[in-house]
Amino acid sequence: MADLHIQINRDKGGIAGQIASELRDSIRGGRLAPGTRLPATRDLATDLQVSRGVVVEAYEQLVAEGFLVSRVGVGTQVAPKTTPRAAPRQKPSPRPKPVRRASSAPVCAPPYYGHRPTSPDLSHFPRERWLAAVRHVLTTVPSEAFDYGDPGGVPELREELAGYLRRVRAADVRPENLVIVGGVAQGLSLVLHVLSRQRPLRLAVEDPTSQRQVPLLRRAGAHLVPVPVDEEGLDVRKLSGDAVLVTPAHQYPTGVVLSPPRRAALMEWAYAGNRVILEDDYDAEFRFDRDPVGCLQGLAPGRVVLSGSVSKALAPGLRLGWVAAPPDLAEAVRRARGELDLGSPVIEQYALAHFLRTGGYDKHLRRMRREYRRRRDALVRALAQELPEARVRGIEAGLHVYLELPDGWDELVTAHVAQEVGLSTEPVAPMRESAGAAAVVVGFSRLPAHKALDAIRGLKVRMSGQNVD
Ligand SMILES: Cc1ncc(COP(=O)(O)O)c(C=O)c1O
Repeated sequence: MADLHIQINRDKGGIAGQIASELRDSIRGGRLAPGTRLPATRDLATDLQVSRGVVVEAYEQLVAEGFLVSRVGVGTQVAPKTTPRAAPRQKPSPRPKPVRRASSAPVCAPPYYGHRPTSPDLSHFPRERWLAAVRHVLTTVPSEAFDYGDPGGVPELREELAGYLRRVRAADVRPENLVIVGGVAQGLSLVLHVLSRQRPLRLAVEDPTSQRQVPLLRRAGAHLVPVPVDEEGLDVRKLSGDAVLVTPAHQYPTGVVLSPPRRAALMEWAYAGNRVILEDDYDAEFRFDRDPVGCLQGLAPGRVVLSGSVSKALAPGLRLGWVAAPPDLAEAVRRARGELDLGSPVIEQYALAHFLRTGGYDKHLRRMRREYRRRRDALVRALAQELPEARVRGIEAGLHVYLELPDGWDELVTAHVAQEVGLSTEPVAPMRESAGAAAVVVGFSRLPAHKALDAIRGLKVRMSGQNVD
């Protein structure tokens, strides 16, 4: 058992964060080797004279980041591989067909940061059709187009996207309301920078919420105010703040769709106080059982800022997204982008415009929707058969389900064991401010339908402490 030297500064606050940071540095610096067992939370809490909950929080954070692993009967150890968010131990997806290259120079494997449950199946990236789009751009677009462009994005893409968002998301946008950005994450950062420039911004966020967004929201100047989510989505009665960030089409992580009365109440809240609704439309393309829910922006274009991206439809690595905002705000965001880094890569923007114009985007989405639906159905069937005591929620849309665990199952242990049997999962605890039933997010985008039953059986057997090898 490691004897840890951890220094905390009680005047600074954020003790759990300080403990996590000290441990993270020790692991990164090699002072804590892979496999090292950490003290029990109770013992470390006594040593540091803090409450046990604070140590639990620090450990949970590092488990979620992949620095530590936690197992029943063994306790908490430094992860075997100390790469944060190490690749889950699952079989790699079938290799994509090699793409013919002009040069025979080897392509370096990029560093791998782990597959997120909400990422798409990247082995289905439409390589050939994307290549055709890029080829089209390079053979038709004049050379001047490759100069620094409008920081708001190339006009052709804004034109195509405005049409797409009107058609598919019932949005109320014109090309001049759109700013092309590097994904929802950058879009939110830019909007918050602009909104918090004049005065500190109190931003209501859903509880639970995506942990990955919290640092960027804070860095952009927002003070976060958690608001609970229930069966109807965000509890609008408990809202406070100057603005709110919501995922109305498919709440992350619970998967709840914001109910019609709540949508109406949310818009009333925004109009009554001249407040802004930031709508994160992160996986709205994938809706399986009924017609897509139109975006809020289409109902209140003067109050709602819509952010979306191609991260779920194509690939997160493209870093291509959009912000649709009321004219003044869109202009301020465009200027902020110009001041920050002069805009997004233009060749990809032209390629996406071509892909949209020629129907390639819609075709790809139709194909993937069918495939993901098959995978989701297989996962839901397997869960119903093997784990009837677990509650599966949020299955109508997106690339993940929200799984409330059987009694006695620990979130962190379940998430770790699930990864070992080839499931892409994340515990919900680090995403929550207030207490809730133990749950994990389970992604199905990379789980072929014929493997779902084995994976869930494997999870069940391992969680009951048996050896399935
Ligand atoms: C709820 C939610 N919103 C936004 C994002 C970020 O998306 P993008 O890749 O468009 O920045 C993610 C990423 O996983 C997410 O889970």
